Amino acid sequence: MSIRLRTAFITLCITSAATFSAAVAYADNGGDAAKGASVYEGTCVFCHGENGKGEIPGTPDFTKSAGVLSQDDAVLIAHIADGFESPNSSMPMPARGGNEDLSEDDIENVLAYLRMKFSK
Ligand code: HEC
Repeated sequence: MSIRLRTAFITLCITSAATFSAAVAYADNGGDAAKGASVYEGTCVFCHGENGKGEIPGTPDFTKSAGVLSQDDAVLIAHIADGFESPNSSMPMPARGGNEDLSEDDIENVLAYLRMKFSK
């Protein structure tokens, strides 16, 4: 690898690491639970229920301690954005809850709402 290429590669690594930690920091602190409430009411409540315990078979109980919400923000954001299916699942979680209009901000906000409302 030439010196120039190597420098470019290292710069790229440093930049992506910085971008990544900024994104995680935002997910940890920046989600707006009040805005997330309307995302939840508009898209998630039909399956996950008002009380977060799940309306339909296969949905997890968000209020369970050491349950799904004990996972890191980055994991949960990926599962909400891309969809998720656990082993032996009776039904997968659809990507963005089936609402393709949800933005990255909507997802961070709804996660902040889940943590505020249902985490013990
Ligand atoms: C059509 C029904 C449905 C809708 C709508 C839905 N979910 Fe889910 N969700 C599920 C099911 C079913 C699972 C469990 C999937 C599994 O474990 O295989 C799940 C799992 C999850 C999990 C746990 C993921 C994990 O890592 O175990 C989170 C968090 C979640 N949903 C958040 C949301 C949010 C936020 C919304 C709204 C944007 C939403 N869901 C909309 C059905 C739904």
